[in-house]
Amino acid sequence: MTHYTTILVEKRGRVGWITLNRPEALNALNAASVAEIVDAAKAFDDDAEVGAIVLTGSDRAFAAGADIKEMADKQYVDMFLNDPFASWGDFGKLRTPVIAAVAGYALGGGCELAMMCDIILAADTAKFGQPEINLGVIPGIGGTQRLPRAVGKYKAAELVLTGRTMGAEEAERAGLVSRVVPAGELLEEAARVAETIAAKSLPVVYAAKHALQAAQETTLEEGLRFEKQAFAATFALDDQTEGMAAFRGKRAAEFTHR
Ligand code: CAA
Repeated sequence: MTHYTTILVEKRGRVGWITLNRPEALNALNAASVAEIVDAAKAFDDDAEVGAIVLTGSDRAFAAGADIKEMADKQYVDMFLNDPFASWGDFGKLRTPVIAAVAGYALGGGCELAMMCDIILAADTAKFGQPEINLGVIPGIGGTQRLPRAVGKYKAAELVLTGRTMGAEEAERAGLVSRVVPAGELLEEAARVAETIAAKSLPVVYAAKHALQAAQETTLEEGLRFEKQAFAATFALDDQTEGMAAFRGKRAAEFTHR
């Protein structure tokens, strides 16, 4: 596997694990880590033996944002011509579901990275926020767009305009996280969720993720049309035949991912 310097990467069964590993900077996202996360995630996405990806950080920080020290001296033209966040677009195009397992700080780009994932499992120590306003900038990788879609306009506006940080419980109440678990159980729970997804039919999981993404991006009418087509398409798969035969035979389905 490629040698990475800012992340740890491991395949455990059908689950790909990416662990942010810049403890000296609370996993702040610099150019190298963005490139490496996207590269590792794409490699897992291209691997048909991987059915789910877990993205996590440390106990102290999922990620404390984009790397402020790297950005501090940039000019408008640097950000415009050489967009340091451009490759996040590829992360958003992954077909494989990604589970963010968040403990500690998920701030700025860290919160935005979690929101680019499909499921957010939060430790009870997790802290979410978009504090960019305190630095004289605004969120740059989706905070002003994905946060309102997740928590509604008014909560998002309060967080983005004040830079306030919220805890895991508040984030769960607001709809930003899928579930909160005790910190000591976070990785175990993330593994359980990822393995559960990875045991399903891979093409059906891709279809479900794609349809869920449509719900964020399009009108209800178009989304329903998309879902109808994608639903019908699952009937072309062996795994649909197997899944329904297994139900009728009162046994567990054995999906072949075909
Ligand atoms: N970039 C670069 N370095 C960072 C960092 C960041 N986003 N966050 C933390 N660090 C570094 C600190 O500079 C410090 O390094 P040194 O010891 O070399 O000074 C180290 O990580 C530990 O951090 P602290 O000493 O500050 O730890 P703390 O426990 O006192 O505070 C914290 C933790 C509240 C998260 C604080 O570090 C903090 O406020 N970090 C910045 C959070 C932030 O503003 N994020 C948004 C970044 S901008 C962005 O993300 C733009 C975008 O939308 C793309």
